[in-house]
Amino acid sequence: MNSLVKNSSVHHRRFWYIACESKDLGKQPIARTILNEWVVLYRDEKGRAVAFQDRCIHRNFQLSKGKVKNGCLECPYHGWTFNSEGTVVRIPSEGPENKVLSSRKAISYDTIEQDDFIYVRLEKNSNYDASPFAMPHYKEKGFKTVRLFNVFKNNVTNCAENYIDVPHTVFVHDGIFRSSENKKFKAIVERVGPTVKIDYRNETTNVGWFSWFLNPSGGEITHHDYFHAPNVTSVEYYFGKKEFFITSHSVPVSDTETHVYTDLTFKFGFWNLFASPIVRYQGQSVIDQDIEVLDNQMKVIQKYGSDFSNSKADIIHVLIESIRDEVAAGGDPRELPNKSHEIEFWI
Ligand code: FES
Ligand SMILES: [Fe+2]
Repeated sequence: MNSLVKNSSVHHRRFWYIACESKDLGKQPIARTILNEWVVLYRDEKGRAVAFQDRCIHRNFQLSKGKVKNGCLECPYHGWTFNSEGTVVRIPSEGPENKVLSSRKAISYDTIEQDDFIYVRLEKNSNYDASPFAMPHYKEKGFKTVRLFNVFKNNVTNCAENYIDVPHTVFVHDGIFRSSENKKFKAIVERVGPTVKIDYRNETTNVGWFSWFLNPSGGEITHHDYFHAPNVTSVEYYFGKKEFFITSHSVPVSDTETHVYTDLTFKFGFWNLFASPIVRYQGQSVIDQDIEVLDNQMKVIQKYGSDFSNSKADIIHVLIESIRDEVAAGGDPRELPNKSHEIEFWI
């Protein structure tokens, strides 16, 4: 059961979340919601990403409806103007020589631009000194990435659990991704600090219709899944010389909405030239099926609560929940004791 997992406690504000892709942030402001907080973002004159609470401190108006002039953000209600530090630098009603008072400041947030994403951290001076998770092999030689964005009507915990849940794949994605073969799988599941690592054993041909391409020899596939606190899942497949990575960063908008950025990164050698549209189409088709499942799961949770029963394979979810509970309680998930389980399941 995971009824205790809190999805938007104040302690989640210590972490970096993707606000948008770099290409989506220009000179004019955009609005985002992260952990129920309204955030406005724009680029200053040097091109740096700036983020404030999306609220004018004068009389409460959304700054995202304003305009950027000379690297400063102007509120459209009475024209109060904020520089990239959030300081009010102009109050039109106080005349052309109005004094700048450093006490009049917008609430500002730290930003980092990494892997062509803009990350925002809501807590100033966060004591959680971790950088945003680096997207595996992004823009590395020999690799290509297809980037997807999707909205799920569910919370981060349930979304993250779904992305590294193997038993559902033969039901929800029957044929596209995997088909049931009633075969026994083994996996080593470990919790190492803020990470859950799953090392699958004896996986061979069972990767759906694209087995002929990814694994024509039918040899054993190396398959690892990871959950990294508080919100990233990473799936790694190695098929001989071909490699495929699925990385999902789940942004908590609210307890019932999650915005998910998914990188499908592959190394298919010569086939890199042609694979992107197929990878995009297949990836989105799989995600569309998961969106439907997760929407329905949240509807049921809203009606009946989130008491769950577990099978053996669900130890993965139990460990993810233990990490997210620790985060929500304000603890440091890096200090959790290590755990290890060997599981068997049939798909
Ligand atoms: S509300 Fe923003 S300037 Fe008055
Ligand atoms: Fe799925």
